[in-house]
Amino acid sequence: MKKSDLCAARQKLLVPVEGYPGAYALVPPPTPRLIQLTGIHNELICAHEALGELKTLTSQLPKPDIVMRTLDRREAVRSSQIEGTNSSVNDLLAYEATGSDEGLPPDVLVTLNYVKALDHGLKEVRRIGGSEALTNGLIKVLHSHLMNGVNDFKGSPGEFRKKQNWIGGFKIYQARFVPPPEYKVQDCMNDLESFLHYTPSEEDQFVVQIVLRMAIAHAQFETIHPFIDGNGRVGRILLPLMLAAESYPPIYLAGFLKSNQKAYYDALANVQLQEKWSDWVSFFATGVKEAAYESMRTTRELLAILDRWGNVVEELGRRSDSAVNRLPELLIANPVVTVNHVKEALGISFPAANAALAKLKEKGILAQSDQQRNRTFIAMEVITLLDRPIDGLLRNT
Ligand SMILES: Nc1ncnc2c1ncn2[C@@H]1O[C@H](COP(=O)(O)OP(=O)(O)OP(=O)(O)O)[C@@H](O)[C@H]1O
Ligand SMILES: [Mg+2]
Repeated sequence: MKKSDLCAARQKLLVPVEGYPGAYALVPPPTPRLIQLTGIHNELICAHEALGELKTLTSQLPKPDIVMRTLDRREAVRSSQIEGTNSSVNDLLAYEATGSDEGLPPDVLVTLNYVKALDHGLKEVRRIGGSEALTNGLIKVLHSHLMNGVNDFKGSPGEFRKKQNWIGGFKIYQARFVPPPEYKVQDCMNDLESFLHYTPSEEDQFVVQIVLRMAIAHAQFETIHPFIDGNGRVGRILLPLMLAAESYPPIYLAGFLKSNQKAYYDALANVQLQEKWSDWVSFFATGVKEAAYESMRTTRELLAILDRWGNVVEELGRRSDSAVNRLPELLIANPVVTVNHVKEALGISFPAANAALAKLKEKGILAQSDQQRNRTFIAMEVITLLDRPIDGLLRNT
């Protein structure tokens, strides 16, 4: 990050970095409550419309949680893949189903941690019932979940950094961007926290919009870069939490950000160095729109699968309260299960669970893993849907 990379206003915010002669860090100005946006109102309106449609669809679902659980897992996989992990939806669900932490591959651990962090955050926001939940304390807890047991993490899980970091480049002198020095992190985060607590009022036409606020909050968080590692993931988890705080269903941007990684990084750098907010907000709003449509499409497809399975089960002529009848809903939320898992979830005996799974296997709904211990049953149709890249989904929208 050279001085000349920055616009004049930002050059004034540079401070020298102790221990690195000639290097500078940027102390970002307070989170903007109001920004001048040029020519992108249409993108913001489209993003809001898409969010509104998603809210309506979700409110019509008899049991939104069964679909949400599955979408959460997909987000965890995609967001962790941005970090460079290699685990698939199938790997994650298999480990969750068997409940075995033994021999957990590091990539699956990272993804499982993401699920735990996201779950914890959503629960807190629902428990407290609004943006008051979005505190620095919660942000630190999210981070401690993410880094729990991760061997190659060099900092303290759940603590803001105590040293200077930089983004891009092996040496600070080659960095694309140098976030504020560690002694400024707390102040910067206090300001961001007050922004996150913002409750919209009627007069505040500009900042009211949740999409705009998410865009601002994410960019500011990534600019502060308060942790040694995990900043991208914590910043991405904050987005569904901000939505949940205002009773919107979560939407997940990792798929979009992963497919547009260069544009994501460029747009962030343009805010950091040049205060070019419009490009970032426009990029972000497009992501919100695409993610909302993807969620809607996936939700509808999951419901269609549930419907088809319902017909198959009906053909089996079982009583409506039989285990086989109750299995399809369980499988939409948990596309990988074990016999024990089904036994507990449906409150039935082991043989009854085993028999119900065997029936659906016979009908081609489930495939069985070849492991003897921790035998799992997999609803491949759901897994294939979840593994589809976002582009594939959007082309058909
Ligand atoms: N100028 C920038 N260029 C690239 N990334 C940036 C920039 N500014 C902020 N970031 C953020 O930094 C993140 C990477 O930081 P870090 O390694 O701490 O996060 P992570 O969660 O471990 O990684 P990842 O986001 O890759 O999963 C990026 O995902 C992006 O959100
Ligand atoms: Mg990282």
